[in-house]
Amino acid sequence: MKVIVCNNYDELSMEAAKIMAATIKEKPDGVLGLATGSTPIGMYDNLIEMYKNGELDFKDIKTFNLDEYYPLSADNDQSYHYFMNKQLFSGINVKEENIHILDGLSKDPEKECADFEKLIDEAGGIDIQVLGIGQNGHIGFNEPDDKLYANTHLTDLTENTIKANSRFFEKESDVPTKALTMGMGTILKAKKIIILANGKAKHKVVSELVQPMITTNNPATFLNAHADVTLICDKEAFEG
Ligand code: F6R
Repeated sequence: MKVIVCNNYDELSMEAAKIMAATIKEKPDGVLGLATGSTPIGMYDNLIEMYKNGELDFKDIKTFNLDEYYPLSADNDQSYHYFMNKQLFSGINVKEENIHILDGLSKDPEKECADFEKLIDEAGGIDIQVLGIGQNGHIGFNEPDDKLYANTHLTDLTENTIKANSRFFEKESDVPTKALTMGMGTILKAKKIIILANGKAKHKVVSELVQPMITTNNPATFLNAHADVTLICDKEAFEG
């Protein structure tokens, strides 16, 4: 795994945006795997800036998001649909039909997940996948467990994740207890992966991630089995 340690969040956001921009310029009809959460917001701001100054064009870009809460409607302001629209899509020229986010109200989640996998394959696979990392090592919503799922699936969120994500909701009991998420195999099939982490709260899981080992107790460590992963973190996440 390649590691880039940045002095601060702004630097991390610029490093991540530069790698995304390089992929988009190299393949203007490429496929981006995207994440929500607080960590990639600065990167998205930079990508919007690059689009506005004419450096980037998203007109033929396709996107697939990692996950969505379940059950939650797309227009709920806590949904990942809403987040992506606000933080990125409304600021760039990506076409609506090229945006793919799992339907948090799907009546048939199993079919929804299978269709999502098929759409990724039909698009030619993900060229670059952006990841954040949970304080417990989750990527997407693949939570630490004895076994991890390979494909996109419906999952229960752990107490730890519900607590961590409650900062975005009015109260903890409002956080959905389930989510639809890409599986470990879906993520690992991406041709290139960048994983972003900032702040002391991520130090423990980041220090496990940079060890040459794999454990289902920290799902992010499976990235050590991938040939093209870059960890972009700040000093606090790296050094503690
Ligand atoms: C978001 C996602 C999650 C987050 C993780 C870190 O789509 O899949 O795995 O990346 O929970 O969240 P933040 O960035 O808010 O610390």
